[in-house]
Amino acid sequence: MFKVLLTREMPGPAMEKLKRGVDLEYVSEETKLTKQEIIDRIKDKDGLISMLDDPIDAEVINAAHDLKVISNYAVGFNNIDIKTATSRGIAVTNTPGVLTNATADLAWALLMAVSRRTAEGDRYLRAGKFRCWGPKLMLGYEFAGKTLGIIGMGRIGSAVAKRASGFDMHVVYYKRHRLSQQEEKKAGAEYAGLDELLSQSDFISIHAPLTDETRHMLGEEQFKKMKDSCILINTARGPIVDESALTAALKQGWIAGAGLDVYENEPAVSPELLEMENVVLEPHIGSATYEAREKMAEMVADDCLAVLKGGRPDNIVNGELYER
Ligand code: DGY
Repeated sequence: MFKVLLTREMPGPAMEKLKRGVDLEYVSEETKLTKQEIIDRIKDKDGLISMLDDPIDAEVINAAHDLKVISNYAVGFNNIDIKTATSRGIAVTNTPGVLTNATADLAWALLMAVSRRTAEGDRYLRAGKFRCWGPKLMLGYEFAGKTLGIIGMGRIGSAVAKRASGFDMHVVYYKRHRLSQQEEKKAGAEYAGLDELLSQSDFISIHAPLTDETRHMLGEEQFKKMKDSCILINTARGPIVDESALTAALKQGWIAGAGLDVYENEPAVSPELLEMENVVLEPHIGSATYEAREKMAEMVADDCLAVLKGGRPDNIVNGELYER
């Protein structure tokens, strides 16, 4: 029987499928294996099901002599050294599509929470400060007629744009490769250069993958180009934003607020952000719905089993392995 390491237990029926199909080693959801613990456990494994915060670098991959597949329980795969995996003939799979709605919903939840100060209002009420209705109490911003700037216009960015039409917003987007006219029409979004998007947008939501090109894409220079009333949302990957520049931007009033689900040094969060009322912080829960997480589990289980049985997985990242 093939041996598979699953670094954290997943929800839903896929667990049983894996237990029936392979010799499965897994740890409970609360346990995060260290890199050394992954190295120690992966040595005799044929398959690995990893989490987005497991560093699957060359050292880890090369510790596993029989490894045939790495199935990442996420759509992003910046935690995996794809080059090393490919050179070793190891298939890497991810979970696109099934978490699109969940992540787009969370981006909107953050947009609303920051612009209408709902988390701050909740804290205010629980602290016993709500003594009377006030004409100036907790004033926020509306969406209608405003511009939403989307950085990265793949599945999730498009789903965020689609939701914006219900709020009567104007949507602009920036992407490395511009969409076709037909795709732009479908998304209801207009292409803009990055600088143009930064200066025009009332709200900016990031939906790009983390790559060498997007790391620190938003730093001091970019924050200074934004409106001082702008609200920034990041549900993509923390290092796309220079977190110390963001902290400065919020402190200096270069922008008005931020809603964050991801952090530069996750799970650590810059202590100053924790003190700010105009910031809403979530513990990387973009895909955390029953629907998405169970489907993600199904996908990694099916793809891992497919590779071990000698087939081609549905969600392959390094497809070139199958073109040789
Ligand atoms: C992903 O799958 O990459 C998401 O960040 C999970 O929330």
